Amino acid sequence: MKNDAYTLGLVGKPVSHSLSPLLHSLLFEMLNLKCTYIAHEVNSQDLRSTIEKIKALNYRGFNVTYPYKRDIIKYLDEIDESAKLIGAVNTVKYDGQKLIGYNTDGIGFIRSMADKGKEIKNRRVCILGAGGASRAIAVNIALQEPANITVLNRTVSKAAEVCNIINNNIKDIAQYGSIKEIQRIENSDIIINTTPLGMIPYEDRLPIEGKIQLSEDNVVYDIIYNPPQTKLLKLAEDFGCVALNGLGMLIYQGISSEEIWLDIQISDHTANLILKQMRKLTNF
Ligand code: ATR
Repeated sequence: MKNDAYTLGLVGKPVSHSLSPLLHSLLFEMLNLKCTYIAHEVNSQDLRSTIEKIKALNYRGFNVTYPYKRDIIKYLDEIDESAKLIGAVNTVKYDGQKLIGYNTDGIGFIRSMADKGKEIKNRRVCILGAGGASRAIAVNIALQEPANITVLNRTVSKAAEVCNIINNNIKDIAQYGSIKEIQRIENSDIIINTTPLGMIPYEDRLPIEGKIQLSEDNVVYDIIYNPPQTKLLKLAEDFGCVALNGLGMLIYQGISSEEIWLDIQISDHTANLILKQMRKLTNF
């Protein structure tokens, strides 16, 4: 029978700004679960002992956030195949014996697109940025049969690394370039910003340099949710594109973690109710 009184948590530094405790407490309330979600701000030298404590206290699992999504891997007993490809873990399940790592960031992106009725299959996708978020999104998009994936970044070699992960392990559909290559952005259907340009304190910045021409057929997704409308999303709306911010991805990555921990399925209807409540409570 399902245990509805699990303890769950978050490990990172800093954690005070995180929306995950709010998100999970709303979910517990909505699903009528007596679970607890505790945020732990952890210094790097204390990561190992924190994991040991979490096991001793029999947590069901925890989220991992900045800066430990990579460091956590060495403490895990098993790691899911796509988290291995991404090279980062944001969700750990503890089954009482083993710590098992997953990455739900890219899944969160895919589910939030599906929720808006936006297809990835056969679409040309352009990802701006080549950090951890880019890798998580790129790997999950590659599994959705897009027409192709273009990763553009300031440091081109890092974009090449993301493409190599896809081309060598999933399908040979990824190409890379500089973030200055406007035409490659224009030649895409779905444009995703994973850089911090547009986020506080870079709210006056665009990840795109120069004049760009977009159309109503474009979907522009900025994984930033604060501010809720970045400069890029404003530009996209001016062109009549579908413009989506990162709150949906955040909610769905949390929901996907919850499903892994509790072995349950959470409906899109519940996800939408949570999204509305989170919007109201945070203004994002
Ligand atoms: P995350 O884990 O959130 O993805 P990250 O791994 O630090 O964060 O990656 C941030 C991405 O934003 C990188 O691709 C970075 O480009 P570089 O690889 O060249 O560092 C990009 N980025 C950060 N600041 C930028 C800036 N001022 N201009 C352009 N790209 C920037």
